[in-house]
Amino acid sequence: MPNTFGKLFTISTWGESHGGGVGVVVDGCPPSLPLSEEEIQVELDRRRPGQSDIVTPRNEADQVQILSGIYEGRTTGTPISMMVFNKDARPGAYEEMKTKFRPSHADFTYHEKYGYRNPEGGGRSSARETIGRVAAGAIAKKILELAVGVETIAYVRQVQDLAMPESSSVTREAIEANAVRCPDQEVAAKMIELIKTVRSEGDSVGGVIECRIRNLPVGLGEPVFDRFEADLAKAMLSLPATKGFEVGSGFAGVSLKGSQHNDPFEIRDGKVRTTKNHSGGVQGGITNGEDVLFRIAFKPTATILQAQATVDTDGQETELAARGRHDPCVLPRAVPIVEAMANLVTLDHYMRQQAQNRLFLFDQS
Ligand SMILES: Cc1cc2nc3c(=O)[nH]c(=O)nc-3n(C[C@H](O)[C@H](O)[C@H](O)COP(=O)(O)O)c2cc1C
Repeated sequence: MPNTFGKLFTISTWGESHGGGVGVVVDGCPPSLPLSEEEIQVELDRRRPGQSDIVTPRNEADQVQILSGIYEGRTTGTPISMMVFNKDARPGAYEEMKTKFRPSHADFTYHEKYGYRNPEGGGRSSARETIGRVAAGAIAKKILELAVGVETIAYVRQVQDLAMPESSSVTREAIEANAVRCPDQEVAAKMIELIKTVRSEGDSVGGVIECRIRNLPVGLGEPVFDRFEADLAKAMLSLPATKGFEVGSGFAGVSLKGSQHNDPFEIRDGKVRTTKNHSGGVQGGITNGEDVLFRIAFKPTATILQAQATVDTDGQETELAARGRHDPCVLPRAVPIVEAMANLVTLDHYMRQQAQNRLFLFDQS
């Protein structure tokens, strides 16, 4: 099932950049959850193109329609199908890219793998596919907030070499207060200037998104293949343009000794807690009740307007200066996508934990 993700709460996405539309089928959603298109739309509006002057100007309202799984405003427990029509496709911009491979995009690998592909807007490799993930993630978010009290926030921590200092007190309001979605307003202003400058040069930049999942219960995640952080890594690296994933101390942890890196336990407010969080909230693949903290590296957008060396479908060396409307930096729009994938992983693991370890309560004495 190459287009399906999750084990108990599953999503299957469909659609291409320049086809009729994009969407998702969500299966396994609990019944009786109040759900409206407006709630889904809030998250899609955070992802949509054309939302500010530092993202692609493609003009899509990305208006969601719920086609099934809801009766009189509540979920019925049957598959929920949601879709968005593509309205502002401009296939003409991709005429040259039908035969010339964009460097570091998916054109060459799709061509070799399938032999036949839809090149317009990058087809299925377009980030428009993530609309389905964000719509599904909005449902997972609602269930987690209502039933478990979990809060997931992602934000832009770094653009190229401009980084905000570490902070555990980031708020949703601070993230949404600027176009780049960095909660440090001074650093955000510099990031915005940088993105505008590279865009005026026909170039692009990448960066780091950090994500924090708060108020998670202890016990989510499986000890071996489906470790909580392994499933998060797969979810995040399944996003287009991602190049790295780290949890807790991540790669920086290698310069510490065990005595510095270990997170000592203590009793706080009657609960077992750790005094710091180099583990990133996961030990042995299982959440330990601290914030789950991870970072994702996004590369500079592949499609740039400068001429670059490439090869065409006839095997001839040539040059390509791409056309079309592109994000000079994918990070501001990737923030809600990261949150969506984190919520999908969390809800799926929460349901698995309930099913295996909370449903049949045999005497443990
Ligand atoms: C929110 C978001 C927006 C993106 N916008 C663009 C874009 O405008 N132009 C582009 O070439 N790539 C864009 N990408 C990245 C491509 O989809 C991606 O590079 C491509 O599918 C190839 O996959 P890879 O980079 O993971 O190898 C975007 C990615 C995300 C997450």
